[in-house]
Amino acid sequence: MLKKILTGAAVAALAVTLGACSSTRPADGGDAGGSAECNVGIAMPTRSLERWINDGEQLQKKLADAGCTVDLQYADNKTDQQISQIQNQISGGAKILVIAAIDGSTLGPVLQEAKAQNATVIAYDRLINGSENVDYYATFDNYKVGTLQGQFIEEQLGLADGAGPFNLEPFAGSPDDNNAKFFFAGAWDLLQPYVEKGQLVVPSGKAPANDDAWASIGIQGWASDKAQAEMDNRLSSFYGDGKKVNVVLSPNDSLAIGIEASLKSAGYTAGADYPIITGQDADKANVKAILEGLQAMTVWKDTRALGDRVFTMIEEIRNGEEVEVNDTETYDNGKKVVPSYLLTPEVVVKDDVQSKLIDSGFLKASDVGL
Ligand code: BGC
Repeated sequence: MLKKILTGAAVAALAVTLGACSSTRPADGGDAGGSAECNVGIAMPTRSLERWINDGEQLQKKLADAGCTVDLQYADNKTDQQISQIQNQISGGAKILVIAAIDGSTLGPVLQEAKAQNATVIAYDRLINGSENVDYYATFDNYKVGTLQGQFIEEQLGLADGAGPFNLEPFAGSPDDNNAKFFFAGAWDLLQPYVEKGQLVVPSGKAPANDDAWASIGIQGWASDKAQAEMDNRLSSFYGDGKKVNVVLSPNDSLAIGIEASLKSAGYTAGADYPIITGQDADKANVKAILEGLQAMTVWKDTRALGDRVFTMIEEIRNGEEVEVNDTETYDNGKKVVPSYLLTPEVVVKDDVQSKLIDSGFLKASDVGL
């Protein structure tokens, strides 16, 4: 059931934004649309991943078209850089901050500064931990992302029918990203029972004992080259004598790209013996890999829908309306349960590329060599 809430923060933010009418008018003299009331700082983690470029630019455009003053920043995956960008946005008069955190545990002090000027804070895609000053969270259902990856592996291998044993290599995302533990838990809750039954065997031994131990196999910064190096190590240390990997749990596409490069240099080629590899994001390179049989699936999160949702939240905040959320239980950041709006992710396999990704305009056919 959709729950609607209106926090004191939103009311306070509105009062302040209305009161600040004439001070932040953009240089072009933009007028009636009320751009002065709408000063938004968007802080994105990095330009090195396609999705954040799309996320940031799309939201920036929608807000600018609606007459807002918008400052969009990317922080090269460096926490300090992101903090100083947010500080600049605050001193530039931002009344709404949209933040996709690099390290969700380090932003408490800067959010304190944001609150001092009654800015409303929306955590974008990744939760910000350890701070009372996070007003809303908009994301995809992160646990579901992992569930979809786990279910895919279960179905492809026939695990529920008792098939196996198969050699599995599991990976997890960046230890500083709050999403990573949800992705892992969603998949591992399904797969670990098969490890215990011996239907899935992890030759490297890198099988976390439980969901909480996920960070032991986390890849810092979601870096493709680090995933590649880790896979190189596992292949050279544990796969002698013709032993083959059958399946790799990769939480996202940037890791999958590195893992695929490693498999390629170890001599794996597309075909019946090629391992099942999961992913997330529908990045162009990975969709190409799916078409070439080098990756089995990706979990697609239509980031346009996330941008639209955050845009709606901002409109609601500006208009003093209730901010619509659909989850008030899952995302406890250590200080509060952050009211959240969760969108639904979906699986894309080779046969869906045209209908889901291209027909919807998410990717161009030429992006993926079609
Ligand atoms: C996002 C994923 C992305 C990953 C790496 C996560 O927080 O939810 O979509 O693949 O970060 O950037």
